[in-house]
Amino acid sequence: MSTTLYERLGGQDAVNAAVDIFYRKVLVDDRVNYFFEGVDMEKQIAKQKGFLTMVFGGPNNYSGTDMRKGHRHLVARGLNDSHVDAIIELLGSTLKELGVQDADIQEVANIANSVRDDVLDR
Ligand code: HEM
Repeated sequence: MSTTLYERLGGQDAVNAAVDIFYRKVLVDDRVNYFFEGVDMEKQIAKQKGFLTMVFGGPNNYSGTDMRKGHRHLVARGLNDSHVDAIIELLGSTLKELGVQDADIQEVANIANSVRDDVLDR
């Protein structure tokens, strides 16, 4: 029997637990928080859930094309590799606080990296 990364991390419950911590970290981090200005609260939480479900390797409804379209307006505002790096770092520290093992944190980072070129529209 094999478990997916998403299941191993705790599935939907883990996503919900991570949303609060991750969201707080993003909003106080001056490297990335200005991209989230003007995004309404409900969208914000949906974004975090979608983001975390995706990088946990769970069921998600997003394609590479969606990632391209969803971030194109941010690329126009200067979104680049440094911002993706910052988000991956904040995600890692969130998971660390939740007691996730380093190997699993690395796997999550790998998934985030696999959509980097779509997010950055290149
Ligand atoms: C690293 C991989 C990333 C993934 C997998 C990802 C995933 C997502 C997802 C699933 C959404 C929701 C799309 C929707 O349904 O509307 C979204 C939206 C968004 N993302 Fe990302 N994201 C990534 C990187 C980033 C980075 C680096 C930033 C900025 C620092 C960012 C900022 C945003 C913002 C502001 C929105 C909301 C856009 C809006 O509603 O106007 N994302 N992202």
